[in-house]
Amino acid sequence: MVRVLVTDSLAEEGLRLMRESHGVEVDVRPNLAGADLKAALAQSDGIIIRSGTQLTADVLDHPGRLRAIVRAGVGVDNIDVSAATHRGIVVMNTPGGNTVSTAEHTISLMMALSRNIPQANESLHSGRWDRNKFTGTQLAGKILGVVGLGRVGMAVAKRALGLEMKVIGFDPFMSPERAAQQGIETAINLDDLIPRCDYITVHTPLTAETRALLGAPRIARMRRGVRLINCARGGIIDEAALAEAIRSGHVAGAALDVFEQEPPGAHPLLQLPNVIATPHLGASTAEAQVEVAVEAARLMVDFLTTGRVNFAVNMSPLDKTELAELRLYLDMARRLGLLHAQMDRGAIRRVKLNYRGEIAKRNTKLVTAAFTAGLLEHALVEGVNMVNAVLLAQERGIDVTEEKSTEHGDFTTIIHSEVETERKHYVAASTVFGKQFLRLVRLGEFHLDAFLDGILLIFSHQDVPGIIGNIGTIFGRHGVNIAAMTVGRSKPGGQAIAVLNIDNEPPAAAVDEVLQHARIESASVVKLPPAGVLPPWLPE
Ligand code: 3PG
Repeated sequence: MVRVLVTDSLAEEGLRLMRESHGVEVDVRPNLAGADLKAALAQSDGIIIRSGTQLTADVLDHPGRLRAIVRAGVGVDNIDVSAATHRGIVVMNTPGGNTVSTAEHTISLMMALSRNIPQANESLHSGRWDRNKFTGTQLAGKILGVVGLGRVGMAVAKRALGLEMKVIGFDPFMSPERAAQQGIETAINLDDLIPRCDYITVHTPLTAETRALLGAPRIARMRRGVRLINCARGGIIDEAALAEAIRSGHVAGAALDVFEQEPPGAHPLLQLPNVIATPHLGASTAEAQVEVAVEAARLMVDFLTTGRVNFAVNMSPLDKTELAELRLYLDMARRLGLLHAQMDRGAIRRVKLNYRGEIAKRNTKLVTAAFTAGLLEHALVEGVNMVNAVLLAQERGIDVTEEKSTEHGDFTTIIHSEVETERKHYVAASTVFGKQFLRLVRLGEFHLDAFLDGILLIFSHQDVPGIIGNIGTIFGRHGVNIAAMTVGRSKPGGQAIAVLNIDNEPPAAAVDEVLQHARIESASVVKLPPAGVLPPWLPE
């Protein structure tokens, strides 16, 4: 049974989808915060939230069994994604479900702002008939600047064009040709857009780069009488600078659906008569809420029951079929990583993975993540998995790179791994025989064929008679049973490496005795999971 915690309001359709899913238990606890949120979170496999729940680094510090966060909506600025990634928690969102509603809300606010609708409505409700006081401005023929031409920005631009506005957009990722096809002129940069517009609406996420994107200096360069709209995130327009520019009359008015602090309380902007505001209602339509709730529930159930990852902001996508196809490779890569972790001595500096043959057609990023997870598993206290492995490696100064070629070499599929430590350069390669038999086929410069499971004794030696007999005798004395053995050598009598698959872990004394042989240079005991035992982070 997996448990999903829901702490913000989620449409019934989404809750139903989860409740009707086999093996899924839903725990709806609205407005949970602080210690209660932490405790509930640690007892859950997944959490679905909207913008009301703050998943800070502190909240995610002891995540217990939490494996997935799904944002029923778009903005993930209320989630410390980096903290989640560190903890190996997948963060997903539902990017498309509320686009139209948010765009419609933006247009509604722009119209309401132009025609003073909230103020006129309030005046009439209080018994007045102020026809002259509320003369507005027409939108047709005006210039709208759209900052950010993502899903919502584009939907707003399209609607504004329908209102006969001229639209100038700015987005570093949008090609001018593509925008032009939609009838949108693009500005070369934000500073080029700013002085040309009668209305400016922002549609970017809130990040370190976009915080106060429209601050005092840029506001000062806007046309006098400009009107600003923010249905994206509080903080993209600097609130203090905006209030000041409205008071001075430079900005004619603003329509805000979002605030830096939500709820904003007695905010200075809300004291200004030409500011109209709504309480973060962009996505609050029946249609959008059903859509994001169902999508969020589906993402969560799929992830927890099949391992499918979609719309993740901190991991590459992975569907059920892909997972089934990759399972063996992920297992193989992790085993190879585990092997390196136990062979290597000294700090790891660089990892280079080379994928050849069949495997190169797959999502090798995930295979690399699985290898790295194996490599770090031994050294780390915190839970490492496919989500956080590469990040944790990078943070430890380990440079992880991959190369691939679909051309077959000697094997249909091979993972070739090179790990450079401060002392040595280690090479290993593994393949799969048939449909499921994982094999270690190279160590250093030597080709061999060893089982990639259970306990291994790996030792380098001079290829002289008596070595194997000597080890057999020592292990026999210590009650260690040898199941299989393989030797790779440069030439008869030359340098060699041997791998013994053994049934039980040899005591340290036995390994010491082995090392006393004059022709045996090094020996490592490597512990791998038994055959068929998948990584704990890989769904069954
Ligand atoms: C979003 O990021 O999806 C919107 O801002 C909607 O937020 P909400 O789900 O809290 O209404």
